[in-house]
Amino acid sequence: MNTEQTFQFNYAALSHWNQLPSEDHALVAEAFLAMGRAYAPYSQFKVGAAAALANGEIICGNNQENIAFPSGLCAERVALNYIGANFPGIAIETLCIVARGALMPENQLLSPCGGCRQVMLESENRQGKAIRVIMINQDNRTVIVSAVKDLLPFGFGKAAN
Ligand code: THU
Repeated sequence: MNTEQTFQFNYAALSHWNQLPSEDHALVAEAFLAMGRAYAPYSQFKVGAAAALANGEIICGNNQENIAFPSGLCAERVALNYIGANFPGIAIETLCIVARGALMPENQLLSPCGGCRQVMLESENRQGKAIRVIMINQDNRTVIVSAVKDLLPFGFGKAAN
C-alpha cells in the first residue's frame, strides 16, 4: 500500500544564547573559546564545538583547515572524534556549536554540514541516548534540538532505538 509520510521535529528558538538555562552557559563559553582557537586561514570562517559529557567534562573542537583542502576537518568532527578516541563509553549530553566569519550572513541559522550530521548521528546511535544540539548564530540567535536524528532524516546507519 502506498502511504504519504510526514517527518516532523520540534526545536526551541531563542533570540540570544543568554536565554539558555544557566547550566548551559559554561558549555557556551567553552564553545566560543574553542572557536577563537580555530585554524581557518583559508575560509576565515571559525567554528567552535563544545560537548558536555555525562562525567561532567567539557570537550572542545574547532575547525582545522589544510592547504590541501579535503584534508581539513570541521569543528564538530574534531570534537566527536577526540571524544570517541579518549572517552569511549561516556555519553555526550549536549553539543554546542558556534561560528564567526563572512562566509555566512549573520542572521543565517548555523547548522552542521551534512558530513558532520552523519558523524553526530553515529555518536548518538553508538551511545543509545539522544544528544541535545545547541546551534548559535553569528547574531546570537539560538536554536536547540533535542536529538541529532532530528537533523538528519533518513540518515545512514543503525539506530539503537
Ligand atoms: N565547518 C565546520 O567546522 N563545521 C560545519 O558544520 C561546517 C563547516 C568549517 C569547515 C571549514 O573549515 C569552514 O567551516 C568553512 O566551510
